[in-house]
Amino acid sequence: MSIIEKALDKNRARQPAPEAATEPAAVHEAAPDQHQPWQEPVSQAVNIDFAWLRKQGLIVPGDQRSSVAEEFRMMKRPLLNNAFGRHAAMRVPKGRLIMITSALPGEGKTFTSVNLALSMAMELERTVLLVDADVARPSIPYALGFQADLGLMDVLSEPDVEIPDVLLRTSVENLTVLPAGRPHGRSTEILASDVMRDLIDDLHDRYEDRIILFDSPPLLATSEPGVLATHMGQVVMVVEADRTPASTVERAMHQLDSCGVVLTSLNRATPGLGLGGQYYGGSYYGSEREHGPGAPAR
Ligand SMILES: Nc1ncnc2c1ncn2[C@@H]1O[C@H](COP(=O)(O)OP(=O)(O)O)[C@@H](O)[C@H]1O
Ligand SMILES: [Mg+2]
Repeated sequence: MSIIEKALDKNRARQPAPEAATEPAAVHEAAPDQHQPWQEPVSQAVNIDFAWLRKQGLIVPGDQRSSVAEEFRMMKRPLLNNAFGRHAAMRVPKGRLIMITSALPGEGKTFTSVNLALSMAMELERTVLLVDADVARPSIPYALGFQADLGLMDVLSEPDVEIPDVLLRTSVENLTVLPAGRPHGRSTEILASDVMRDLIDDLHDRYEDRIILFDSPPLLATSEPGVLATHMGQVVMVVEADRTPASTVERAMHQLDSCGVVLTSLNRATPGLGLGGQYYGGSYYGSEREHGPGAPAR
């Protein structure tokens, strides 16, 4: 039994019941908005083109009945419960900080991050900040259909660039994006630095109703996602079904040893894989809660 299958098996009893091409558009100036006091002052806004989302098979806000919307409704529920559980004792420390990662490139980290962000942004009273932390291969602006220049790397490396200068408020209500920023020769070290840790803490502490999702680099390419993971309350480990060998997944999972809550998502899964008959139209989802202070009471 693979590590993922074990994780799925462990979680099966806890699965929550399901709840009831266009070219990217250019960045445009934001009109001042007095109605969103939860946000940092943001200097720019971007339009998200729903036709472009649909073309890529991503969630289209307002289109609640699609199978992808249904899958991600299911996937977000345990993450949100861990972050905002009704009783404080059920909450995972820093559970609002969630990193989406995988062993290798191309397994669906960005696909999962963007869909989770769109799905979570549809929750009432929740706001979502989606951070493009895959600074070597940033792809969130492309996926959402806009262009971005400055971002995370600029904030971390340029003293005169501040968070509000680079945040992009999107046309999807409650969804803000922090792009990766301009390439930097020392991006690996910067991402694993104390400056990055302080920035994450600051983003976390600023608003208590905000979920912060980090689209991360692949775990086996460099060391910084392993360091990033230590700052997170929760990690979603994406595994591409039928592609990533179990030994590769296992090696990558070792980098997450210090994380209290690691949930696994089997991407591009097809029915009949013999994983216990659980099929949600595209991805299986399980959870491992093994160790660390973040592990909530069972
Ligand atoms: N479940 C899925 N259904 C449809 N397309 C997918 C799915 N998962 C990934 N893709 C597509 O596959 C490509 C690679 O996925 P991506 O999320 O960019 O990988 P990563 O971020 O891990 O490198 C993208 O074009 C993405 O839209
Ligand atoms: Mg990606």
